[in-house]
Amino acid sequence: MPSSPQQVRIAVTRPVSLALLRCELTHLARTPIDIDRAREQHAAYEQALSRVGCRLERLPEAPMLADSVFVEDTAIVLDEIAVVTRPGAPSRRAETDSVADVLGRYRRIAGIAAPATLDGGDVLRVNRTLYVGLSGRSSRSGIEQLAGHVAPLGYRVEAVPVHGCLHLKSAVTVVGPETVLVNPQFVATEPFRGLEWIEVDPAEPLGANALLLGDEVIYPASKPRTAERLRRRGLVVCEVDVSELERAEGAVTCCSLVFVGADAPQP
Ligand code: GLY
Repeated sequence: MPSSPQQVRIAVTRPVSLALLRCELTHLARTPIDIDRAREQHAAYEQALSRVGCRLERLPEAPMLADSVFVEDTAIVLDEIAVVTRPGAPSRRAETDSVADVLGRYRRIAGIAAPATLDGGDVLRVNRTLYVGLSGRSSRSGIEQLAGHVAPLGYRVEAVPVHGCLHLKSAVTVVGPETVLVNPQFVATEPFRGLEWIEVDPAEPLGANALLLGDEVIYPASKPRTAERLRRRGLVVCEVDVSELERAEGAVTCCSLVFVGADAPQP
């Protein structure tokens, strides 16, 4: 009898493109990005993912696609399906084909049809609920199409308006099984009733983006006050320096798509 392949945590990543210098910026002013440093920081981020047990699936560099390092926006990967998005920024739409090719080895693929838009950075999963940011990037029809794919699988989809930041996950992320890290200036906390929440330090408004992997929270080194708040709540925080990616309006969840899959997927 052939044994079934082992299930492992997989992190899809893509190298920093030189074109990152021309990245989309919505809420930040453009400041010079040191590409070499951004690449070093991205490599250290990948090492942190490996250290917490992820097997890396590195996509090839996309030299013409400025924001392609931010792979999170291109798909929502659930246990049963991967929904490849239609990013809200037209410059980012060409990022999805290569992501779909890789994810298709692990999941059935569904898509978002024009003119609807959806960015993965707007989709926050808490158990069987997907909170989806109504942002400048994700449209109501995109959220409806997502719901059409996942409601039959038992997921509830709730649209959540965000304001003053790029994505829902700029405003709130999961840091424990029933705990979120939130900036209430960017999103109402009411949809997250029933969960515990930790507020960012007011001096660090962009501090709500954290990546929970197992028992560790991958968290930007640029937000030490909020990191201290997380530690005081008993969380294990692994700080990574992503300062150059932050200049591109990126953060720690944006740079990977993490899911559980077969260690030896279909070729
Ligand atoms: N620069 C990240 C984004 O706007 O998508």
